[in-house]
Amino acid sequence: MTPALALRQVSFAYVNASGERWLVLEGLDVSVMPQTFVALVGPSGSGKSTLLRLMAGLLRPQSGEVLRFGQQLHSPGSVAYMPQRDLLLPWKTVVENAAAGLQARHVPRKQAEQRVRELLPAFGLEGFGEATPDQLSGGMRQRAAFLRTAVLEAEPLLLDEPFGALDALTRADLQRWLLHMWEQMRRTVVLVTHDVDEALLLADQIFVISERPIRHTQTFSVDFPRPRTYEVTLTPDFLAYKRAILVSLQEGRA
Ligand SMILES: Nc1ncnc2c1ncn2[C@@H]1O[C@H](COP(=O)(O)OP(=O)(O)OP(=O)(O)O)[C@@H](O)[C@H]1O
Ligand SMILES: [Mg+2]
Repeated sequence: MTPALALRQVSFAYVNASGERWLVLEGLDVSVMPQTFVALVGPSGSGKSTLLRLMAGLLRPQSGEVLRFGQQLHSPGSVAYMPQRDLLLPWKTVVENAAAGLQARHVPRKQAEQRVRELLPAFGLEGFGEATPDQLSGGMRQRAAFLRTAVLEAEPLLLDEPFGALDALTRADLQRWLLHMWEQMRRTVVLVTHDVDEALLLADQIFVISERPIRHTQTFSVDFPRPRTYEVTLTPDFLAYKRAILVSLQEGRA
């Protein structure tokens, strides 16, 4: 089967004003299969966001290639990407904010807003389409930002720490909600997270990054049955996975 997303021998370095190179990826191979939920876990500064931006076509590899369903990525338009700090425009309503991504892809405004309105209930935002971001809770703002990305209907869906800035309860609510959404829509997802529990709850596969530059990732296949519930986090298997992943994360620091 052709991967939904593949990095082949990808190297990438940031270059600063004085020409110094900061190598983040070196000769990395990664494959994400269609309709798989992948979580990317690694310490802060390890290059997760860089890797995701390469997957989104927002950064270009200095060598190697990024393939989407076997084709070279030419423009960022073919994937749906939610950046780590996804800000809603404060003067626009939920519907206007969420339709902006579609409009940037040349969908007429009315049509884009109609599509967003249809999705409001599924995103827990029914009745809030005309609200501005300051009238929403943190969790609702995050769902609105996620709606803006999900409405693009592009694959894969690339999410950079979508729950990073939320309190634990709101975060748990959103994890449950995303789990349910994903089990219905089954789109290819790559989600970046610091949180091993979150990765285990949501993902089919976990790619652990533990070295810099990133030359390879360690892959864990998570085979808890679906539909999953929070109960799975209380099982001995869950803890065994968690221990193995934490050990893998530590290895890079030894
Ligand atoms: N635009 C940039 N210019 C130069 N260096 C950068 C740039 N963006 C990131 N870096 C550096 O590249 C490395 C990887 O950064 P990246 O943002 O990909 O890490 P991350 O794993 O997403 O971290 P976090 O978990 O904190 O979000 C870091 O050392 C960072 O300082
Ligand atoms: Mg990051």
